[in-house]
Amino acid sequence: MRIGILGTGSMAAALGGAWVRAGHEVRVGGRDVAAARKLAVGIGAVGGGEPTEAVRFGEAVLVALPATAAVPVVGSLAGELAGRVLLDCTVPMAPGADGPALTTAGARDSVARRLASAAPAARVVKVFGICHESIWSLPRPSFEGAPLGVPYCADDQGAGDLTADLVGSMGCVPVHCGGLDRAGLLEAAAVFAIGVWWSGGEARHVFPSPALAPGAVDDAE
Ligand SMILES: NC(=O)c1ccc[n+]([C@@H]2O[C@H](COP(=O)([O-])OP(=O)(O)OC[C@H]3O[C@@H](n4cnc5c(N)ncnc54)[C@H](OP(=O)(O)O)[C@@H]3O)[C@@H](O)[C@H]2O)c1
Repeated sequence: MRIGILGTGSMAAALGGAWVRAGHEVRVGGRDVAAARKLAVGIGAVGGGEPTEAVRFGEAVLVALPATAAVPVVGSLAGELAGRVLLDCTVPMAPGADGPALTTAGARDSVARRLASAAPAARVVKVFGICHESIWSLPRPSFEGAPLGVPYCADDQGAGDLTADLVGSMGCVPVHCGGLDRAGLLEAAAVFAIGVWWSGGEARHVFPSPALAPGAVDDAE
């Protein structure tokens, strides 16, 4: 798969590196072209340069930008993004009095839906925002014997299928969580999980499956 990346920071490096290891062709685009070229060399991408180059290259394009920058940047590239699968990993988060806060709280739309409005012909998928970049740097991440599950939300079936294939190629399990109207839940879940970690808790221990409870099988029958 050919994947363009918008951004040259932590997520661009971690996911871009994972995709190169999985055999995909990656091109990095950044407002700092020198940083894009440097990152491309660092992760073994085919090249780095202007954002438009990354967008034209990729059948899928990762938005690895701060949530505040993502909407205007994507809007400025709307024409080139037509038909592309737009992978949105942004987490709209800012420090709050009681921990990290969702910056879209009270707003009508998630970042993902705002990206879809800014680039109406792009096929937006909310994905990859739940885990810290360190997880994406792991080869084929798995925990307690199970491969990492990767939730995603998409309205476009083909875009969702491409995302599922991409996730699978990384040794992870795609978890379809509905359409883009549910993307705000994923964004909020990421902020919530970060709050759990910041308070000293362990997010994965907060959400055990009811199927693991003693007697769960009997109860279901
Ligand atoms: N880090 C994580 O563990 C993690 C996990 C899940 C989701 N996320 C989300 O992923 C996104 C990227 O996070 P990150 O950690 O990779 O951030 P980062 O390391 O700070 O990198 C941000 C990138 O965005 C670029 N950028 C910032 N403002 C811009 C603007 N106005 N126009 C164009 N480019 C701009 C930066 O370019 P310059 O270097 O030129 O400033 C840099 O390349 C965020 O939305 C974050 O919430 C991060």
